Amino acid sequence: MSNYALLNICYLIGSLGFIIGLKMLAKAETARKGNLVAAVGMAIAIFGTIFLYEFNGENGETKHLGNLIWIFGGMVIGTVLGTISAKKVQMTAMPQMVSIFNGMGGICAGLIGMIEFTHLAHHSGTASLMTGHSLTILVGLIIGSISFAGSVIAFLKLNGNLGDYSFKGQSYFNMLFMAAVMGMAYYVMSISGAQAITMMYVLFIIACIYGVSFVMPIGGADMPVVISLLNSFTGVAAAFGGFLYHNQVMLTGGILVGAAGTLLTILMCNAMNRSLLNVIIGSFGGGNAATAITGENGGTIKEIGVSDSAINMSYAQKVIIVPGYGLAVAQAQHICHELEKQLTEKGVEVKYAIHPVAGRMPGHMNVLLAEADVSYDKLLEMDAANDEFATTDVVLILGANDVVNPAAKTNPASPIFGMPILEVEKAKTVIVNKRSMNKGYAGIDNDLFYSNKTRMLFGDAKKVLQELVNEVKAN
Ligand code: TAP
Repeated sequence: MSNYALLNICYLIGSLGFIIGLKMLAKAETARKGNLVAAVGMAIAIFGTIFLYEFNGENGETKHLGNLIWIFGGMVIGTVLGTISAKKVQMTAMPQMVSIFNGMGGICAGLIGMIEFTHLAHHSGTASLMTGHSLTILVGLIIGSISFAGSVIAFLKLNGNLGDYSFKGQSYFNMLFMAAVMGMAYYVMSISGAQAITMMYVLFIIACIYGVSFVMPIGGADMPVVISLLNSFTGVAAAFGGFLYHNQVMLTGGILVGAAGTLLTILMCNAMNRSLLNVIIGSFGGGNAATAITGENGGTIKEIGVSDSAINMSYAQKVIIVPGYGLAVAQAQHICHELEKQLTEKGVEVKYAIHPVAGRMPGHMNVLLAEADVSYDKLLEMDAANDEFATTDVVLILGANDVVNPAAKTNPASPIFGMPILEVEKAKTVIVNKRSMNKGYAGIDNDLFYSNKTRMLFGDAKKVLQELVNEVKAN
């Protein structure tokens, strides 16, 4: 069998690996293996390319890829850095890591565009570059560069190194800037030779500035949606690379990433009941938050102590735990699982209600609880949980706020109005653990905290849960 045929088989296996891996990622039980399947597919495609790819040299002779030391050197450095950062990363810092890795994908697509355009301009001499081929190269370069610069800004914001900077009319400025990027691309194609190469670098710089200006005004907490969007950009840029090199596996991978990123962006926006435009130009959690709603008891809250909370739960028939962002911040998932086990030993039925956008990234609560070995069959999706609250004695809310805010159903002026929420107030008693009366991500007051059924259990989630475990054991 020829090397060409073998290479195509490698690409086919690689593409299948991506598709099967992605499918397996959809379920928590198979996600780990799915990741591995996709990685093996990627490895087969990479090594196939390195050892089997053939092209014709200047005298028509068959050649293989050179620069193996550079290629393997880069792969070793990338593997070491990737492995160390993936092993060391905290769950709460996961969005930053996804962001910077995505930026690396973006700059790869940008560099491919730069190298290929330089080759093309050299070989075309004074001939016109107004061709489909150079358009494909430049579109990949632009999208990859925007994704790179935007991802770096997203990383810096999530890491706390950068705040939100915006000025009046920035969205119009960005639109004009986008038009300038397109105009520049047209200009680059309309010239030739060394001049075109120089202007292509200017195009790269303008596209990067657009990426910065696009992400800069977006609220730091909206970053997961933006990262998902930038992820889809990188996928599209990689797919353009696939077109360019007639490389099926790059095309398949790029399309899958592009489509998955787009779907995820849409799903996140739907789950928050916000349009993508609102995420991009709105300032959620900022000054436009709705006016605070007066609590039904004139704004008074009722506190509860650890001991009473433990008694309430120990003598309940059914307890549903609602995890939120605060549980992840406190890294209290293991002790939460311990509480669940203690209560179960006492004959209490314990479940978890998972809101699709609880936390700060898709599947955040699922991953958090999986880390603590919480059994998947104890997790209820939002609709199932809403059906069960009416027959629940105690709902224990751990560091969640917006996802249980009744304003989403009752206050049309609220920025979260229309967002589906966990209807915890259907339960007999609601215990809310958080550290203070601080607002959540959306920056709005929560009427649930003032409800007659609600008891506030203040304190850091990890500390409070440890005390609850001790009390439940003692009861
Ligand atoms: P939030 O509404 O952000 O509320 C988290 C609460 O946790 C805060 O009110 C905070 O109150 C409390 N908290 C923080 N640290 C704590 C600690 N150590 N111990 C105990 N409590 C602590 O969280 P949520 O209910 O999970 O909602 C998620 C929000 O993020 C939604 O608005 C959603 O739209 C948004 N969002 C989600 C995603 C995805 S994909 N998940 C992406 C972007 C945006 P204290 O400061 O008083 O303790």
